[in-house]
Amino acid sequence: MYNEINLDKIEIDAEPPIEEPARQYYFMAECREWVKNFEQRHGRLPKACVVNMGCQMNARDSEKLVGILEQCGYHMIDSEEADFVIYNTCTVRENANNKVYGRLGVLHGYQKKNPDMMIALCGCMMQEPSVVEKIKHSYPFVNLMFGTHNIYKFAELLYRAVTKRSSVVDVWEDTEKIVENLPSERKFWFKSGVNIMFGCNNFCSYCIVPYVRGRERSREPEDILREIEALAADGVVEVMLLGQNVNSYGKNLARPVTFAQLLKRVEQIEGIRRIRFMTSHPKDLSEELIEVMKQSDKICKHLHLPLQSGSSEILKKMNRRYTKEQYLELVEKLRAAIPDIAVTTDIIVGFPGETEEDFEETMDVVLKAQYDRAFTFIYSKRTGTPAAEMENQVPQDEVKRRFDRLLKEVQRIAAKKAMVYKDTVQKVLVEQMNEQDNQFVTGRLDNNSVVHLKGTSDLIGQIVDVRLTECRGFYYLGEVL
Ligand code: 5AD
Ligand code: SF4
Repeated sequence: MYNEINLDKIEIDAEPPIEEPARQYYFMAECREWVKNFEQRHGRLPKACVVNMGCQMNARDSEKLVGILEQCGYHMIDSEEADFVIYNTCTVRENANNKVYGRLGVLHGYQKKNPDMMIALCGCMMQEPSVVEKIKHSYPFVNLMFGTHNIYKFAELLYRAVTKRSSVVDVWEDTEKIVENLPSERKFWFKSGVNIMFGCNNFCSYCIVPYVRGRERSREPEDILREIEALAADGVVEVMLLGQNVNSYGKNLARPVTFAQLLKRVEQIEGIRRIRFMTSHPKDLSEELIEVMKQSDKICKHLHLPLQSGSSEILKKMNRRYTKEQYLELVEKLRAAIPDIAVTTDIIVGFPGETEEDFEETMDVVLKAQYDRAFTFIYSKRTGTPAAEMENQVPQDEVKRRFDRLLKEVQRIAAKKAMVYKDTVQKVLVEQMNEQDNQFVTGRLDNNSVVHLKGTSDLIGQIVDVRLTECRGFYYLGEVL
């Protein structure tokens, strides 16, 4: 494992190794020399800031970036007034891109005050050739750009960027490669995300992910289990298994394994008390998975099951490969097997050609499925996806009206569902000090709901019995028993 590799023992005068991850450790050792040199010149360590802009997969990638920067000797800070700032970008919706362009202007201001400052961009946005061109042309002060497929090469690219005065750009179109055993930071010592697969093969017609994250690649179960065992030995009690479509995990391995089989093996790891996963595609959710969840004490009673639309017509245009009826049947089957399961979802409003009737179908599913939480999105046209070419884009004011109606309904249902647990006793994993009041700590129920309770920092990382005394729509107030 990475923590057994001693950077001091690496011969940096020799040629860099060809094989991975040894090559990256070599460049971490090189960067560390550069950092020492910086320290001598400035009388302090260089400060670095990693900004995560995307989903849970991005957040996990950001932890890997921080792990490498820490190995190199950087002092990590939260402020973007740093010597090295990297944005780990998202491109799933148009406004995510616009946000980056806006913030680059601010960073440029910092760079003018601190000419040694380096600005880097990585993540999904970089996988779009037009974005890279635009940045090269309009934001030439960006020092380093790389994509999602070669993030494991960060140490090497960082070294090139700090030793070379011109910009470094390295974006790959796709990869078959999975590089294991690189350093990684953990934001929380008691919980961690674990990638089980990368990429997506579904090509939902609105979605840019398959183009920017490439084809589906599963990690070997042994590698995943070894990582989780090491995490458990390190005090981690909760793992979140991550993939764009975890239900198709293992299908493309030389020795195929199902996601349910993987879960069963994760369950056997001593010390792990909660297992979460995301995201599930309804078309691939198996009976076997429902059965494993039902039997398990460790797998959280929560399933994120993106609906996207309740209209079979629109679902077809979205290339989701299930109908309204099939989706509802699945939810029914889940609730019959696991009555207290929390079901959450993603819904897009205003997909091209969505009529008032289509939207009513979505409202109907929302009412029938009784989601515990729902993330609602206004359709965003992503150039390069089939939906961007479709006719009958829905007028903005109409979309807004539907969106508001949907939001109100999902909030009403979520609040009603949350009330059911008021005055019950539940297990809470305490995660952090409360952000507003330091007399309180904040944690999560098995079903992922947030609970604030009176307590001190020693509770962090513990699973405690809590009486939920008040329900305030999206969160609870509770008392430790
Ligand atoms: N427009 C709006 N929402 C989108 N999502 C993905 N692509 C788009 C898009 N083009 C939403 C989906 C997905 C979630 C992560 O983001 O609902 O499940
Ligand atoms: Fe996008 Fe569909 Fe893949 Fe999810 S399953 S990442 S929505 S293409």
